[in-house]
Amino acid sequence: MNDLIEFDSKRQVFHLHNGNISYIFSVEEGGTLCHLYFGRRVQKYHGELKYPRVDRGFSGNLPGSLDRTFSRDTLPKEYSGAGEMDYHTPATIVRQENGSNALMLKYKNYKIEDGKPKLEGLPAAYVENEKEAQTLTITLEDELTGLEYDLLYTVYREVSIITRSVKVRNTGKKTVFLEKVASLQLDFVDRDFDSICLPGAHANERHLERSSVGYGIQKFGSIRGTSSHQMNPFLALADRKTDEFSGDVYGFAFAYSGNHSFEVEKDQIDQTHLVIGINDYNFSWKLDAGSEFQTPEVLMTYSDQGLNKMSQAFHEIIRERIVRSKFKHADRPILVNNWEATYFDFNEEKLKTIVDEAENLGIEMFVLDDGWFGHRDNDLTSLGDWFVDQKKFLNGVGGFASRVHKLGMKFGLWFEPEMISIDSKLYEDHPDWMIQTKGRLATPARHQFVLDMARQEVVDDIFNKISAVIKDTKLDYIKWDMNRTITEAFTATLPANRQQEFAHRYILGVYQLYERLTQAFPSVLFESCASGGGRFDLGMMYYAPQAWCSDDTDAVERIYIQDGTSYGYIPSMWGAHVSAVPNDQVGRVTSLDTRAKVAYFGAFGYELDLNELSEEEQETVKEQVAFYKQQRHLFQHGTFYRIDSPDTA
Ligand code: DGJ
Repeated sequence: MNDLIEFDSKRQVFHLHNGNISYIFSVEEGGTLCHLYFGRRVQKYHGELKYPRVDRGFSGNLPGSLDRTFSRDTLPKEYSGAGEMDYHTPATIVRQENGSNALMLKYKNYKIEDGKPKLEGLPAAYVENEKEAQTLTITLEDELTGLEYDLLYTVYREVSIITRSVKVRNTGKKTVFLEKVASLQLDFVDRDFDSICLPGAHANERHLERSSVGYGIQKFGSIRGTSSHQMNPFLALADRKTDEFSGDVYGFAFAYSGNHSFEVEKDQIDQTHLVIGINDYNFSWKLDAGSEFQTPEVLMTYSDQGLNKMSQAFHEIIRERIVRSKFKHADRPILVNNWEATYFDFNEEKLKTIVDEAENLGIEMFVLDDGWFGHRDNDLTSLGDWFVDQKKFLNGVGGFASRVHKLGMKFGLWFEPEMISIDSKLYEDHPDWMIQTKGRLATPARHQFVLDMARQEVVDDIFNKISAVIKDTKLDYIKWDMNRTITEAFTATLPANRQQEFAHRYILGVYQLYERLTQAFPSVLFESCASGGGRFDLGMMYYAPQAWCSDDTDAVERIYIQDGTSYGYIPSMWGAHVSAVPNDQVGRVTSLDTRAKVAYFGAFGYELDLNELSEEEQETVKEQVAFYKQQRHLFQHGTFYRIDSPDTA
């Protein structure tokens, strides 16, 4: 029974709904798919929302038609190509054999099915049974090229979330190049919106920015090869008066960890046009006859009760249908990480003192950060050499892990799987695995370089090396770091006319490695990290239920970072640690109490030398650990409300 998606064949109207929200669109003249409504649940739709037909000067009409009141330039639509007399920023651009990029996308047919199809090779929200969601696939076609666009819409029964993605099929005879293929287009009529986005920087991520949407096109995005510290793949469009508890807001989160783009355009007649997808910078995909391209997925929600309700919908879908592992509802272990305690300056004896004290204080897991492998005493060397530094660990890292396990604690390790140092065995063996362009010097960042994750043998090799360490150490947790972004994007695996596929193929390689490791080792808890919060997105969450929020561990700074993060992401994800004072990043001194109270809101831990605490402080830490154990389920999985913003509280 199609109880979540209805099709009114007389009016040619599609209505997606659950108990809270409705999303409505229709097929109009010339097979144009026109957007009608997204908002509070409409019980029965009787055609009231038909968009007025008006002759607007210099807005062209349908080919072959004399009707001057129907224009693709001014109607709210579901998905627009270049050409079509539509001058909004297009959702898709396709370069064809003759050099043209004009399309005329027309409705072809639809399909409604229970459940939600998997997106091959991509992270996405999922279903646990077929009854909890329904999926509508609308096929648009461009007759001349034979291109078909499947617009996928899934509506969940119990959560106010609709997911959207697009699959392009080349049913024609000629190769085309997809220069842009967005996952979502959404047009709003007559709205004065504020945009709410999460910009930032390294050690200063996801600071909420709210500003009014003005005329023209504003693009929020990343071209760094990661979802980035600088602009998180999240956006909300809120009415001007919307606050935390009242008013309308639409939220959008992109389940993708690479280059993204959120384009918001206010047009000549005050419509707001939104396009979300892979950034078209460094993107072009050769689509041969008979082949397909699947975009990543956007999750969208609507709240009529302000920003908290929007965030709660995202939190719920992440907890229930993005996180996949056994950790989904599990309380996360309290950890101590040695990074800020020792940086690279440690040996086994030093670490043992931290582990012993951790056990004494009731901490549940020890995480050994950067520096345990190759001969890595600083950041100049050894990335890719995922075997132990015998100087630091006489009995191997396996021996050290078993000591931690004997104390009844879990053991975690840091990796940076996508990286290579020039000074490494990996580089000696495979210099060609590093991303570089022939004849051009590769740009270093933190003295390191990126592996070509689009190469299958690279993914296989790193998988084998990490698997061996997991087995040797009976590992409980991995912190998967990524400390530089991509430059001189190039892969030896593709010919010249396909190099622009690389940025996306890189991320597909990362996803493949994550998928294989998480499937092979389901008991390992993964925490993603990219110099702090540089890849804090739903794509990562699908594999890694936790993410290190930021390299800034100062309690006051963290209030802002965690506040911004909370708009799109559930607290159980936010790696949040108590560090030493004066704080290493900003030099501020805050009380141990304040530091813990801020960190309690996430996946809680410590990141300092526990032996340097006074006896009194150690007693306090014991109490904090005991308190958090009692309350963590509420902190991590409870319903989260922002009562006020950090600036006004
Ligand atoms: C960046 C991370 O964000 C830090 O927590 C730490 O793991 C360092 N990398 C190690 O190089």
